[in-house]
Amino acid sequence: MDIISETKNKIKNVLSELGYKDDLILIHFSSRPELGQFQYNGAMQIAKSMRLNPREIAKNIVEKLNKYDCFEKLNIAGPGFINISFNSNYLINYLNEIQNDISINIKKYPNKKIIIDYGGPNVAKALHVGHLRSSNIGEALKRLACLVGNDVIGDVHLGDIGRQSGMIIYGIKEKFPELVYFDDKYTDKYPERLPITNEDIEKIYPEISLRAKNDEEIMKEVRNITAELDRGNKGYNSLWNYIKQVSIENIKRTFDKINVSFELWEGESDSYQYIDKVINLLKSQNCLEESEGAYVVYVQKEDDKFEIPPLIVLKSDGTSLYATRELATAYSRVERFNPDEIWYVVDSRQSMYFTQVFRTLYKSGIVDNKTKLEFIGFGTMNGKDGKPFKTRDGGVMKLETLLDEIKKESNEYLKKENIKESEKEEIANKVSVATLKYADLLPNREKDYVFELKRFSSLEGKTGPYIIYSCIRIKSLLEKSGENDYKIVNIYSKTEKDIITKILQMPIVIDSSYRNKTLSDITEYLYELDSLYNKFYSENRILTESNKDKRKSWLAISQLVFKVNKLLLDTLAIEIPEKM
Ligand code: ARG
Repeated sequence: MDIISETKNKIKNVLSELGYKDDLILIHFSSRPELGQFQYNGAMQIAKSMRLNPREIAKNIVEKLNKYDCFEKLNIAGPGFINISFNSNYLINYLNEIQNDISINIKKYPNKKIIIDYGGPNVAKALHVGHLRSSNIGEALKRLACLVGNDVIGDVHLGDIGRQSGMIIYGIKEKFPELVYFDDKYTDKYPERLPITNEDIEKIYPEISLRAKNDEEIMKEVRNITAELDRGNKGYNSLWNYIKQVSIENIKRTFDKINVSFELWEGESDSYQYIDKVINLLKSQNCLEESEGAYVVYVQKEDDKFEIPPLIVLKSDGTSLYATRELATAYSRVERFNPDEIWYVVDSRQSMYFTQVFRTLYKSGIVDNKTKLEFIGFGTMNGKDGKPFKTRDGGVMKLETLLDEIKKESNEYLKKENIKESEKEEIANKVSVATLKYADLLPNREKDYVFELKRFSSLEGKTGPYIIYSCIRIKSLLEKSGENDYKIVNIYSKTEKDIITKILQMPIVIDSSYRNKTLSDITEYLYELDSLYNKFYSENRILTESNKDKRKSWLAISQLVFKVNKLLLDTLAIEIPEKM
């Protein structure tokens, strides 16, 4: 069991012996490190509910806790903060144990089934930085949720049908009107291949989108094609399926580059088969109302402080919308997987829409109260002008372009003599992904942030390169040492103690990160841990240390630091290159 849970259990025993009640025993990092490694602040709470003196309560708790020989010092500060230090023997044993299996140092939760909807790329449109954020955050949250003991299914929820489909088909029809897809009388099999590449497809969308904005005729035809697709027009659908296939191959390649993968590759269109059921349910629950020709669900509640508009569920012509497919997707998820929770990792600007959707799902009973729906919004990645990140010529920043720019910066790290030509590509890729992901996961999830290429690529400060470079250095130290029995014999200095305390904090960091669904706790923690370690590294000559026990202990600490880094970087989906 992790050291924090173990300590909580001890406190729990003591509280029950004393007849005190604290349902949520929380252990914090100590705000006064000189007094202890950790802090328990429950005495104040208990005192309040029992109308007693908090210091008195803290004193009683400490008295009882002293029977455990794991504590070196239990200190009461201020109105009743209990500062906790563990004794060295206990720590050394514990650390040597987690050396063999670092996962002991993770608090596990009761297993739940969680579906995470993230990524959300759109077929036939380029992946942009918004999708990048959803992918980075979603992938890391998925790994984190697994780490603490859940069963997790990641669903990419492709935007694989909608207005963009109509635009692309319009564009193709205009250029190649003779294609059989556009021949109503055609009854044979449609061709398997077409000379259309992903680049062609990505060019068509912005062109037609712009023209349609200025030309009502084009827009009308685009709408018409989109509606026909929705109604199942064979030619259009089979052309669209071909385009989808080309586009998805490309999306998969890009996701692969940033270590993002999904258990389910489903899209909006997979929900078509559930739409009738959903509409029937909405009707039978009296949720559906006609409004200006369309069908809507009213979701405003009496005690709402602001207006929540109704959710439009069907267009006047009976065709589906984004929201219809949203409801049908939720229906299918519940029916097929019966999840405890569904998380939606989507740009915060869609928060109102998800309020409408969640309310509709609960109101109609499509989802019942057993399943928790959670919106996990995130801020935008901005350019220096404070507006969503654009290319130099003002276009949408494609994920691929951004990766290329970062890769150019990473060339700095390929100059070392020991790096062979053949290794450079892989190293550059890993460094750029680390740069991008670490930067993207560093700010609080909900905050907008400015992407600063130079700063994020630097080897100094809170950056991906700093973290992975620290890891590479430890790894190389361990390899050179020839050590194969990593055991801490003794703790010799304050810096070592500080590193150890940091290592012990890992369960708290993982726990808070999981509860708040923010990765920034982990990125910040990695920086703190590695900075401490690097200080230690520069203070000591580890490899040439003549005191055998010291050398052994130092190497063991080094390996622990590496293992903690590796575990957390894996969680963030960041790989450590062999060299840089
Ligand atoms: N495809 C959408 C977009 O690009 C994101 C999908 C988010 N997920 C969802 N279930 N609506 O904005």
